Amino acid sequence: MEVLRIKSIDTYAIRHKMLRPSGTVEDCMFQGDNDELTFHLGAFVDKKLVSVASFYFERHPLFQEQYQYRLRGMATLVDFQGQGLSSALLRTAFPVIKQNQCTILWCNAREKAMGFYTKLGFIPHGELFTIQNIGKHILMSINLG
Ligand SMILES: CC(C)(COP(=O)(O)OP(=O)(O)OC[C@H]1O[C@@H](n2cnc3c(N)ncnc32)[C@H](O)[C@@H]1OP(=O)(O)O)[C@@H](O)C(=O)NCCC(=O)NCCS
Repeated sequence: MEVLRIKSIDTYAIRHKMLRPSGTVEDCMFQGDNDELTFHLGAFVDKKLVSVASFYFERHPLFQEQYQYRLRGMATLVDFQGQGLSSALLRTAFPVIKQNQCTILWCNAREKAMGFYTKLGFIPHGELFTIQNIGKHILMSINLG
């Protein structure tokens, strides 16, 4: 397995399949995908891209930290889940985020994925909320300081 930086366009197929199966490809293009401080990571198994995650320099008003990163588009193809690939992407991202002077990474986690984020050290904040057409989410964050 290899973790590499990828382009936003490389994330769309896995985002589409795993996160927006009934949406269009346009639904898989996220705001800020091509911003200067955004980065995208991919896990490759036998040269095949099987897991993706994207990181945006974006502030959540609930957190005090001036500089924050947001995680979006975290997904692993079904056949490759449970092999530590998403964890590997996050562990690769943590030092990059710290290098950018940010000590907090947050995400709107799907309810079903909460257990995954908790294992990685994320903590939940507040109540579940619904994102239309996608389902219940909860704000989670990890302190990287
Ligand atoms: C959630 C998801 C990204 C995890 O990816 P993955 O590559 O399978 O994750 P990992 O193999 O790195 O899992 C790390 C640990 O979390 C656990 N885990 C993974 N998904 C979990 C879940 N939904 N609930 C509880 N624990 C979970 C794994 O068993 C593993 O535990 P271990 O360290 O004790 O073995 C993947 O299941 C997925 O793509 N789901 C569909 C899309 C999605 O919901 N993405 C999240 C959007 S917020």
